Amino acid sequence: MSLTSDETLVPAGLRTAYCGSLRAADSGRTVSVCGWLARRREHGEHLAFADLRDHTGIIQCVVDGARDLRAEQVLRVTGTVRLRPEDKVNPGLSTGEVELGDCEVELLSSAEAPPFSLDARSETDEAVRLRYRYLDLRTDRMQHNLRLRAQVNSALRRAMERQGFVEIETPLLWTPTPEGAREFAIPSRLQRGSFYVLPQSPQIAKQLLMVGGFDRYYQIARCMRDEDLRADRQFEFTQLDIEASFVGQAEILEFVSEAVIEATFAVSGERPPAIATMTWNQALDRFGTDKPDLRFGMELVDLTESVAGAEFNAFKAPCVRAISVSGAGEWPRSRLDALVARAQQLGAAGLVWMRARAEDVLESPVAKFISEAHQRRIVDATSAEPGDLVLVVAGEREPTCKVLGQLRLDLGQPAVSQRPFRFCWITEFPLFEGVDDEGHLVAAHHPFTMPHPDDIDMLETDPLRVRSQSYDLVLNGWELGSGSIRIHRADVQRRVFKALGITDEDAESRFGFLLGAFRYGAPPHGGFAVGLDRFVALLAGEDNIREVIAYPKTQSGADLMSGAPKPLTDKALAELGIRVVSPPASGASRVSGA
Ligand code: AMO
Repeated sequence: MSLTSDETLVPAGLRTAYCGSLRAADSGRTVSVCGWLARRREHGEHLAFADLRDHTGIIQCVVDGARDLRAEQVLRVTGTVRLRPEDKVNPGLSTGEVELGDCEVELLSSAEAPPFSLDARSETDEAVRLRYRYLDLRTDRMQHNLRLRAQVNSALRRAMERQGFVEIETPLLWTPTPEGAREFAIPSRLQRGSFYVLPQSPQIAKQLLMVGGFDRYYQIARCMRDEDLRADRQFEFTQLDIEASFVGQAEILEFVSEAVIEATFAVSGERPPAIATMTWNQALDRFGTDKPDLRFGMELVDLTESVAGAEFNAFKAPCVRAISVSGAGEWPRSRLDALVARAQQLGAAGLVWMRARAEDVLESPVAKFISEAHQRRIVDATSAEPGDLVLVVAGEREPTCKVLGQLRLDLGQPAVSQRPFRFCWITEFPLFEGVDDEGHLVAAHHPFTMPHPDDIDMLETDPLRVRSQSYDLVLNGWELGSGSIRIHRADVQRRVFKALGITDEDAESRFGFLLGAFRYGAPPHGGFAVGLDRFVALLAGEDNIREVIAYPKTQSGADLMSGAPKPLTDKALAELGIRVVSPPASGASRVSGA
């Protein structure tokens, strides 16, 4: 699907046409095209074919006396569009039926030999591409990805505005917020020793907008988190951030669904079906994860009842679950042993494999400990056909499901680029995700998340069972976004803070300004944030968000092009009142406020 709209792309200035736009119907037109020299091939003694590239494509120019032309020079070529001889038509090129003849070439800018060939992007070391990102950006892939990103932004904005949302920018120089990630600090010059913090997200700012009466807010917001970088994580990333008042979870899910479906359709032509919802518990039971990839089956099967009463000791566990791998019944022993080792590495006590057979029901090293009746029940429950492989894990429910959920992905997950786009909402996350070293409960989302109304009374008695009104959006196995209904009542907030071990003084010093604002009339509200980099990566079929960010950081947090981060000059440090107390070894310097 083309990402360039013909109506908006009107050539102007030095060009009268775009390279990739010329077709047979343009024959006879004299045009000027501008761009970079992609490649040059000699053609007889005096003539050369010069392929000129702009972001729309490539046009072949037949150039006289082209000896001085070199790759990546910036040229303006004026010539006449003409049909190529029939045997020279290139069906692989949008302009493959034509070429520019009688060309006059103007050198607009010379170019040194590029450090890597743009045609060989996939073989070029990523560090080299990032060092010369401006060259990498000229490749089709980067042009496509960043233009796709712009279209996603545009579609999201359209959808939010259609639903009555107002775009409001919130500060980048901000104060710590309670979302759990390490924050980037910015020293204040005017108030030495004090620091701003770059926002992890506009979380508190947007809740204050609700108090301020903007009852439908959105922003394409930059967020900064100093956390370990991975394929789906950068220090700086972008969210489609929303918040709305006087609505509940159902409405928030609807607002976001409309936006992501519109953006998916805009760039892929594929309109995903209405987005299914499952609770966190259902997702764990069926897929062993809170981010299920719905593009493929292999769902977990509960065997706890089916194996009840079996002799086999390992099956005498609170939870016994299985997946069935179609056609894997002939896998060699070595591969099965590797699966057992993988399950153990993931935390399972063991893994039982069983080959479904037509005659003896199941073939397995442990088959002799399992009666034929139990074997038949396992086959029935898993719907295993002869030739399939059944993998069984037993233990506590959550770890058992998670191990099988990971094995399901290991064995069945399609490549990121494989369609369709299968969104899914996960609701009713637990309010707390566990207990920290000091024995305090840890918030699963953030401390302002409203508990599920049916569970509020368990806050003090059985907190780990309390569900929350928080929800995630998942796409093809990736967590795309999160949100929640917020606590707007002081009494509930006090109880949640208490459970989290946050004292009144602590709460006052960390987010007193939010709690203070809530005393002046906080409407019931909730919101959501979609991780835009992840969304665009999935839409572009990329498995690393670096591929959809113009200037990303490397794994070690460096910008190879600009050299950031860099030491400051002594003068700049003095002005900020900062003394570096250890030399900036391995890129990390310790600083102290003066
Ligand atoms: P959360 O922290 O879950 O929620 O973030 C929402 C989404 O942002 C994306 N994301 C990231 N993308 C790239 N690099 C990162 N380092 C990174 N961290 C997060 C993910 C994630 O799902 N304020 C809440 C939202 C709310 O409650 O309204 C928040 O930020 O796709």
